[in-house]
Amino acid sequence: MTDRLESLGSVPPDARASTGDGGSAAKPVTVPDLRAARANGRKIVALTAYDHPTARLLDDAGIDVLLVGDSVGNNVLGYDSTLPVTMEEMLHHTRAVSRGARRALVVADMPYLSYQTGRRDAIRNAGRFLKEGGAAAVKLEGGRKRAGLIRSLLDAEIPVMAHIGLTPQSVHMMGGYRVQGKRVDEARSLVEDARALEEAGAFAIVLEGMPEAVGRMVTEAVGIPTIGIGAGRFCDGQVLVFHDLVALGPGPLPKFARAYAQVGAAIASAARRFIEDVRGGAFPLDAEVYGHPVGLPTPARSGGR
Ligand code: KIV
Repeated sequence: MTDRLESLGSVPPDARASTGDGGSAAKPVTVPDLRAARANGRKIVALTAYDHPTARLLDDAGIDVLLVGDSVGNNVLGYDSTLPVTMEEMLHHTRAVSRGARRALVVADMPYLSYQTGRRDAIRNAGRFLKEGGAAAVKLEGGRKRAGLIRSLLDAEIPVMAHIGLTPQSVHMMGGYRVQGKRVDEARSLVEDARALEEAGAFAIVLEGMPEAVGRMVTEAVGIPTIGIGAGRFCDGQVLVFHDLVALGPGPLPKFARAYAQVGAAIASAARRFIEDVRGGAFPLDAEVYGHPVGLPTPARSGGR
């Protein structure tokens, strides 16, 4: 825990004690803390989270940023892309995560068509994540074409994390989920995007799905933190999708992800054992039933029925 808390600069030594109730007494991570982390060369560690118990566990483990990604669509809601995800769905999940986060910075992903339709929509929707969702910042996809929008959100006091490279909301424009920046002109374009986003006031940029060399070029070209997912080792931090981290999804992991636990397999095994025990009469046992009422005659045993 202490190692993680030390990953960002703002945690005073006397704020490291656990509260003893599963939460952390540490000072909450702020947007300026993330900027300071880059300046001080400390890696930022982020994970997606979509629900309260997961947010609690990840927060207690010392994660810096909980991203309520619109990947909730693929990972939790059963959609085959992020495009169908709605504002109401995102708010519902953001509220659950915010209630579980005591230290981590909660960033809410703006779903498709919640910001592409104009600045008024974008401010109203982004503001809802802070006002109703308990988030501290929002994330939106796109490069230099989002610069004006980001300025408008900052005018409304809404911190913005940008996201370039493989941007899943552009799946149809990209012709699939493809690594971006593989040609030199594309790589330079990503650098220009990142510079424009920094200039507009984004406090960090997610770099997704690009060659390591491009992740490095972008990181070296800007002064704000880059947080990579499939963008190599030279970013200022790393983010993974929670369901990849614990192998909870159905399919094979993407090349850049690492499973630190096999939770999907553990759940399936628990369910199989439960089915077997119930059908075989091994669940529940005596210790798992409430005591017999006083004065009621004990019936002869008949297989639990
Ligand atoms: O929605 C999401 O999970 C994301 C991450 C891939 C950064 O945007």
